[in-house]
Amino acid sequence: MEIYIEDNYDALSKRAVDIIASFLKEKPTAVLGLPTGSTPQKTYEMLAKKCSRGEISFKKVKTFNLDEYSGLSPADRQSYHFFMNKNLFSKTDIDIKNTFFPIDFKPDFKKYDKKIKELGGIDLQLLGIGRDGHIGFNEPGSKFSSKSREISLAKPTIEDNARFFKSIKDVPIKAVTMGIDTIMGAKKIILIASGEKKNQAIFNALEGKASTKVPASIIQRHKNVIVILDKEAARKLNKK
Ligand code: PGA
Repeated sequence: MEIYIEDNYDALSKRAVDIIASFLKEKPTAVLGLPTGSTPQKTYEMLAKKCSRGEISFKKVKTFNLDEYSGLSPADRQSYHFFMNKNLFSKTDIDIKNTFFPIDFKPDFKKYDKKIKELGGIDLQLLGIGRDGHIGFNEPGSKFSSKSREISLAKPTIEDNARFFKSIKDVPIKAVTMGIDTIMGAKKIILIASGEKKNQAIFNALEGKASTKVPASIIQRHKNVIVILDKEAARKLNKK
């Protein structure tokens, strides 16, 4: 596992962008696994800028998003479809037909995993991490062997995500997520985390015992992982 500790959020985003951009230059047909949330926003902004300057292209890229809330239409401003269109897809040359979300495979979410396989598997999976150690919406207790499926969101996740909604009561309680096994099938994983709120989850994920209590700890078992943190997110790590 390669770990980068950057001074701040902008620097960690730049690090992620540099790695993703070189990856795309080497493999313009890459299949990307993508997260939503606050953490990847700057990464997407910088990738979109690189694309508009002609330094990279998403024309032949295919994307699989990690998750989506149940019960929100793609046009809903809180949906992850909306987030991805606004922050990345509409600002690049990607063909929207090449962008996939697990919820679109309802009711048979196994077909999402099948589609990923059909397109050659995920080459590069970008991941955030929840305060409770979740990856995608695989909450604590999710099996390491889990596939894409509908789940109930954990209380800390609903609380954290309430900031995007008018009231906590508006936060969907269910979502569809790639499974942990699906995520681990990616050939390369980049996990990004920023801020003090994430430092316990990062410590548990990187230096704790690999356990379903901390879904992100599974990445200790992946052979090709890059973790990019800012100083606050890295604060509790012993091995720096
Ligand atoms: P955040 O979410 O980037 O908004 O902190 C990360 C996650 O929940 O995976």
